Amino acid sequence: MSAPGADDLVIDNLALRFGGVVALRDVSFTHRAGEVLGVIGPNGAGKTSLVNAITGIYRPSGGTISFRGNRLNGLSPGAIAAIGVARTFQHNQLCAQLTVRENVMLGCHRRLGYGMFKAALGVGPARRAERRLRHEVEPILELLGLDDAADEPAGSLPYGVQKRVEIARALALRPTVLLLDEPAAGTSDEDRASLVRIIKHLQQDASCSVVVIEHDVGLVMEVSDRVAVLDWGECLMVERPEVVASDERVLAAYLGVDDPDTDLSRSDAA
Ligand SMILES: Nc1ncnc2c1ncn2[C@@H]1O[C@H](COP(=O)(O)OP(=O)(O)OP(=O)(O)O)[C@@H](O)[C@H]1O
Ligand SMILES: [Mg+2]
Repeated sequence: MSAPGADDLVIDNLALRFGGVVALRDVSFTHRAGEVLGVIGPNGAGKTSLVNAITGIYRPSGGTISFRGNRLNGLSPGAIAAIGVARTFQHNQLCAQLTVRENVMLGCHRRLGYGMFKAALGVGPARRAERRLRHEVEPILELLGLDDAADEPAGSLPYGVQKRVEIARALALRPTVLLLDEPAAGTSDEDRASLVRIIKHLQQDASCSVVVIEHDVGLVMEVSDRVAVLDWGECLMVERPEVVASDERVLAAYLGVDDPDTDLSRSDAA
């Protein structure tokens, strides 16, 4: 990781259009090394589009995205992941038939640049590397509380556990920045508590910086150093949680309320 506080991911005047639909408009902010940045905003605000643009799935219509001075625009998703920017998906993208461990090992394979097929055939160094990877993923499985489920098919597990497998797979890339798109959606209170613990651990351990997109505003306020607020494709502000929670524009835009007594920090506004 860069020195804490240094600029890691710099988004400058980012624009993204789909025909007449403006998903992002002049979005600018900086994600600093070591920080947890929360991103909130109502449905359709552009949160997933932002992650897709950063990770190379969508090609921006304008503006720049750079990571430690390297421009990401135009790079493939694989190249961006190899640079150290990993993400999870709002809707799980696991291989349901593979075990939890195999799904997590897939993250390592992406990093190492050969597939599980070669490894399964025992071709050349792939077989030795395979054994090494099995060891390598153990601490990740442990951190995510997945050791007991490691040999279960991912598709057979409760949704909240599958969400943790997604995070484990992204961590297997050994990212510098981890983008989490609604990691708590559809999960239990227990899953939510472990998610908070995991995010705090990643920060304390200086493993990677985190960007967490969530409708669970309470969770975002609890874990974030700063919070970006998106509304209709625009970034309204990037501020400390307590500033965001008491901002009238945010209350009006995000919750559609003008009630000054509403406490954002204690609500799940989804
Ligand atoms: N591939 C696409 N083609 C056309 N329009 C799209 C596409 N992806 C996103 N959009 C549009 O861009 C806007 C932002 O969508 P996005 O999914 O980024 O919102 P979001 O903030 O992630 O919402 P949610 O909280 O529901 O996940 C919406 O109007 C959406 O319909
Ligand atoms: Mg989304």
